[in-house]
Amino acid sequence: MIDFSTKYLGLKLKGPIVVSSTPLSESLDNVRRMEDAGASAVVLCSLFEEQLALESKALDEDLSRGTESFPESLGYLPDLNDYRMTQDVYLEHLRRCKTAVDIPILASLNGATTGGWIRYAKDVEEAGADAIELNTYALATNRSQTSAELENQLLELVAAVVGAVKVPVAVKLSQSFTSVPNLVARLEDAGAKGVVLFNRFYQPDFDIELQEVRPTLHFSTPSELLPRLHWAAILYGQLKIDLAITGGVHSAEDVLKGIMAGAGITMMASALHIHGIEHIAGCWPMRNTGWRSANTLRCGRRADA
Ligand SMILES: Cc1cc2nc3c(=O)[nH]c(=O)nc-3n(C[C@H](O)[C@H](O)[C@H](O)COP(=O)(O)O)c2cc1C
Repeated sequence: MIDFSTKYLGLKLKGPIVVSSTPLSESLDNVRRMEDAGASAVVLCSLFEEQLALESKALDEDLSRGTESFPESLGYLPDLNDYRMTQDVYLEHLRRCKTAVDIPILASLNGATTGGWIRYAKDVEEAGADAIELNTYALATNRSQTSAELENQLLELVAAVVGAVKVPVAVKLSQSFTSVPNLVARLEDAGAKGVVLFNRFYQPDFDIELQEVRPTLHFSTPSELLPRLHWAAILYGQLKIDLAITGGVHSAEDVLKGIMAGAGITMMASALHIHGIEHIAGCWPMRNTGWRSANTLRCGRRADA
């Protein structure tokens, strides 16, 4: 059988399947089931800085005034009032996960201010997170904002978080960057240890009956894997930063393709929502491909296996 053990962000993982950030991991029982089914790590659902703002009523006021102070977050969150765990609950959940399972637990953060990102990063590190994934969303909504400005903001943020914690930091990117290799190289220079290709977001849709905007998020399909494979393959070999693929990984074949493209790990969310957590077990790449290890599978792409 192929040895699929791998290293991601300096963490030794028993295999290439990691559960990406999803509300499924809000349940401790689910996290145990993920480990039992063969996940080699779990990225917890994101802790959103806005939740605290919401608690303090500040965001409520902003929203009711219609100032749209958090346009990027509003694009992601369908209903802030329903939204997930508070910071204390999140940290407690993280501590419990760390006690309950042996696999690494990664915290996922989505901040709104640099101060918030740093504070949260320190908190989750203290609570025992093995690594931190930054769930970033750089969306230009203003005609005066340039791509370079957006990228620089992202780089400053990443450098600030990396400088504040000792645990490794990965950056989950959206697909809407022009020169992905240049950006990823600069993320590496800023201290990021991994890059996650690519997040999917709620998109505004229109309800023509109610005549209002309705955020929607559909589960992915395997066809969404293709651009991720493409970018991982382009990045592989150019940089030292670890590559993770998220988006469209639904089967053992998809996992193999991700590794072949150069990703250290492949992540799953939608497939687990659709088929259940135990689906992970069936996605371990058991097929005899003739390669000896995940590494030779990657190298095989370069015709030297
Ligand atoms: C219901 C749902 C909730 C999600 N919540 C988060 C989140 O809190 N933070 C995050 O970084 N990604 C979140 N994601 C994105 C997933 O982690 C993943 O990157 C994306 O869905 C692509 O992977 P997939 O094709 O396996 O679903 C969510 C996805 C789904 C389906």
